[in-house]
Amino acid sequence: MNSKILKTETQDLHDKIEEVMNSQLLFSNQFTLDHYQNLILKSYNYIAGILPKVSSDWPEFKIILEQKLSALYSDLKHLSIIINNLSPVVINNTNRHYKLGLIYIVLGAMLGNKMILKKLHEYQTFKGFPFVYLSQHQEDLSKIWKEFQTLINGLEEIELQKVIQGARDGYLLFGK
Ligand code: HEM
Repeated sequence: MNSKILKTETQDLHDKIEEVMNSQLLFSNQFTLDHYQNLILKSYNYIAGILPKVSSDWPEFKIILEQKLSALYSDLKHLSIIINNLSPVVINNTNRHYKLGLIYIVLGAMLGNKMILKKLHEYQTFKGFPFVYLSQHQEDLSKIWKEFQTLINGLEEIELQKVIQGARDGYLLFGK
């Protein structure tokens, strides 16, 4: 199945991004405000950068991406981070399926967000934090993910290769 191939062909970069996001510290109760801030900033730079480039090719994902961005605005505001100082990622590739790979990163990350959120709720440091970005879409996530996987499973081989390329670049851009 294409969705399995997409996962395995990008697994190495998922492992790397988990490391970059200090996953080990998170699960050993050593995650700090700086680490959380880094997660929110990187998510903002990624989604703010891809949104204007992917939404006309994939209008069905435009609303979710806009909602994610607006959730990030709320978290940034809570963290008192000034948006003007941020630097959204730059996308140059115009291939439609490459862009679907960029979207995969955002939708897939929502699966991990559930686990991250659960862990952060155990921390005293983050008591009262709104976690708008991490908690958004958790109820309809399985529906969103199933529909996305159906879309991926219906692709031709050549299209899938473009998605994989976009996803791999997406992980690298996210981690920058
Ligand atoms: C502390 C950091 C992270 C943890 C602990 C984590 C954990 C996870 C877990 C447990 C899953 C699988 C969930 C399932 O199959 O039900 C997953 C999937 C995924 N995560 Fe992460 N994640 C982290 C960070 C990220 C980041 C920063 C990104 C994007 C830049 C990301 C992108 C993805 C993608 C695309 C998938 C879907 C893989 C697939 O099934 O095709 N993750 N993550």
